[in-house]
Amino acid sequence: MDQRTCGYAGTRESGNARKRERAFPRGRAPVRRRRRAPARLRGAKSTKRRTRPGARVRITVLRLGHRPERDKRITTHVALTARALGCDAVVMDAKDERVVAGVRDITKRFGGPFEIEDGVAFRPLLKGFQGTKVHLTMYGLPLPEVVPQVPLDRDLLVVVGAEKVPREVYELCDFNVAVGSQPHSEVAALALFLYALRGDASFGKRFEGELSVEPSARGKVVRPRDERPSS
Ligand SMILES: C[S@@+](CC[C@H](N)C(=O)[O-])C[C@H]1O[C@@H](n2cnc3c(N)ncnc32)[C@H](O)[C@@H]1O
Repeated sequence: MDQRTCGYAGTRESGNARKRERAFPRGRAPVRRRRRAPARLRGAKSTKRRTRPGARVRITVLRLGHRPERDKRITTHVALTARALGCDAVVMDAKDERVVAGVRDITKRFGGPFEIEDGVAFRPLLKGFQGTKVHLTMYGLPLPEVVPQVPLDRDLLVVVGAEKVPREVYELCDFNVAVGSQPHSEVAALALFLYALRGDASFGKRFEGELSVEPSARGKVVRPRDERPSS
């Protein structure tokens, strides 16, 4: 079956549940249930929406392999970079309420719409996503070569890793893109990829929050939303 059209089904639970049962026969193991991604994060449902000229496509970032102690700050930066450069959502396969709370707080104050979900099983998300899947990895093909091939009229899922990314991710994605063939940062890779793909449109999103930052040649100008000068 074509992986782009296959149904979104299954969880990673059964194998894990069997392992838990073996390790904790009295059922005392903490249950780490990964959720199915909400429908809006799984890509456009209808072909109509994906192909309508000028339609606003959704860009979702999938953050794989977050290690709570080590990666809290960098995962938060992945999410804030995604938000600032016009993406719609970040999905984490790991659970970390601190990251989610921090990003939601920024979104409340400085504006959305922007969503973040943690604890989402990545395999069903990748298999069921209706759109283009791009994995950022230093082992991929060079950014300048790949970017022109990425359609701008379909929903997009951009995958960034933390620790080693499972081999199957390379197969499940449509493009493996290297932002330079050297190791660096997922934040830098994401920002450069988004800017290479969308250029100045990356900065075109209107944020609706409690505060708005007024561009200023010098100094810091931040206004409560209600006090913004009317245009
Ligand atoms: C600490 S790095 C791990 C580097 C990893 N060996 C790799 O596959 O790119 C974490 C993440 O940063 C991103 N990254 C790092 N260097 C990159 C590069 N040159 N091009 C694209 N993505 C990169 C990838 O998403 C990677 O999973």
